[in-house]
Order: sequence, then C-alpha cells, then structure tokens
Amino acid sequence: MKLGVNIDHIAVLREARKINDPDPVEALGILRRAGADQVTIHLREDRRHINDYDAKRIVELSALPVNMECSIDPAIIDIVCELRPHRATLVPEKRQEITTEGGLDVLGNFDRISETVAKLKEHEIDVSLFIDPDFEVIAASADTGADMVELHTGEYANIFAMLYSNLPHTPHAIEELRLSRSELQERLSQAIGDLENSAIYAAKAGLLVAAGHGLNYQNVSRIAEMPNIVELNIGQSIIARSVWVGLEQAIRQMKELIDEACHSH
Ligand code: PXP
Repeated sequence: MKLGVNIDHIAVLREARKINDPDPVEALGILRRAGADQVTIHLREDRRHINDYDAKRIVELSALPVNMECSIDPAIIDIVCELRPHRATLVPEKRQEITTEGGLDVLGNFDRISETVAKLKEHEIDVSLFIDPDFEVIAASADTGADMVELHTGEYANIFAMLYSNLPHTPHAIEELRLSRSELQERLSQAIGDLENSAIYAAKAGLLVAAGHGLNYQNVSRIAEMPNIVELNIGQSIIARSVWVGLEQAIRQMKELIDEACHSH
C-alpha cells in the first residue's frame, strides 16, 4: 500500500504570514527519507496554499512521483499539462469550502471530465478522479478513460470521530451528534461497506483504487486493510502530528500503521 503525503498545509502555515517560510519544497527530502511513496499537492484556483511557483519547483525537484490535485478549470488544467506531474487527481472545488467536501460529480459533468482526462493523457499524465464511493459514479469514471479513482473517506472519518474521539469534530458532523451510538455504529458499518464494495467494483472495472480525506492515526487501519485499495493520500493528520514529533517521524508512524494493517490481512 502506497502512501501519498499531502504537503499543502506546510504552505498554509507560510500563507498565514504571507512570507517565504516554511517552504514546502523543503519537505521533499524528508518525505523520501521517511518512506513516503508520493508527494501530493493541490493547486487550488484561489491559490490559498500551494502556488504556481511551489508546484513548478515540486514537480521539477521531487524524486518521488508527484500527484497534483486540481479542478477541471481549463486554466488550471493548462498549468498541469505544462508542468507534467506524474498524476493529476481531478477534484471538485468550491471557493468557500475549507477542504474538498465531496466527490466529483462525474455523472453531471461527464463530457467535460472526459475531455479533461483525454487532454491530460495526451500530455502523458495519469489521471485519477476523486469520487464518492458509489457504483454508478465508478462506472462513469471508468468510461471517462481515467486510470484511477480515489474514494472519498470523509463520511467514514466523520462518523469514526463522532464515535471514538472525545474532541468535537467538523461542523459537518453536527448532524451526526444527534444520533445515538448504535445509529452511529450503523452509519460507520455502512460507510465501511460502501468503501469496501466500491473498491472491489472499481478494481473489477479496471481502475486502480486510492482513498483519502480525513484519514488519521486512529482511523487509517480499517481502510488500509481493504485489499483492493493500493494507495492512501493523507495530509492534515500527518502535518498536524509533525508539530509535535517532526515530519519524518509523523510519516514513519503513519507508514507503520498502514503496513501493519496490510500485513494483518
Ligand atoms: N485526497 C484528496 C483528493 C484531497 O482533496 C485531500 C484534501 O486535500 C486529501 C486526500 C487529504 O485529506 P486530509 O488532509 O484530510 O488528509
């Protein structure tokens, strides 16, 4: 199981002061030393963290494959085609959101997404689509010509936090707060089942399967043990832990949990 480390939040910290420190490029060597398999960055339309100069240097300087998350906005896609990272992961983007809130609407934007996939592939960039765990969306994703899907684990992560963390979680989870423990357990089993079945369905459709969003040191194992998932992309929890233990150690600890979960199977 591969681990892609999303380093956007290093740039978030820099942007808090609008200066040049910390520089996300400095993370590249640490990721490699710690055993990460991939660098993941999101060049957002509003450039709230990673900017064009970061993206250019990261693609040029990274010894690890670079997975660039991006919207299907033509101006952004032109930049990605010029930079030619190893992979582009197409994600939905809303200006007001704090983070990517749901999967791509592949059914509603099938033609635009298919054209975007074709353009990226012309530039020899592998393409993944960030989607909700839903059979119809997976089937449509395969039809776009994408190589991979990344299953959105946000619902799983939110319910997991409601059940097992004593800290208040995201505002989205307020709804779930009204649910009883047994209702939450049921929702968690449902979310796990959806991810597991979607991973099987996508693999059968010939797609590589990744997963990500909201994964952390408490909830990662149940996802890492799913046999059809080949890659996890994790940002927030790793960068948060690096405040306490340093980035290298934070990545090593995550890698260990993932490896243990894979080998337990
Ligand atoms: N995968 C995708 C497609 C994402 O958009 C994000 C968030 O940028 C992540 C993974 C990482 O999510 P988190 O920061 O919650 O680990």
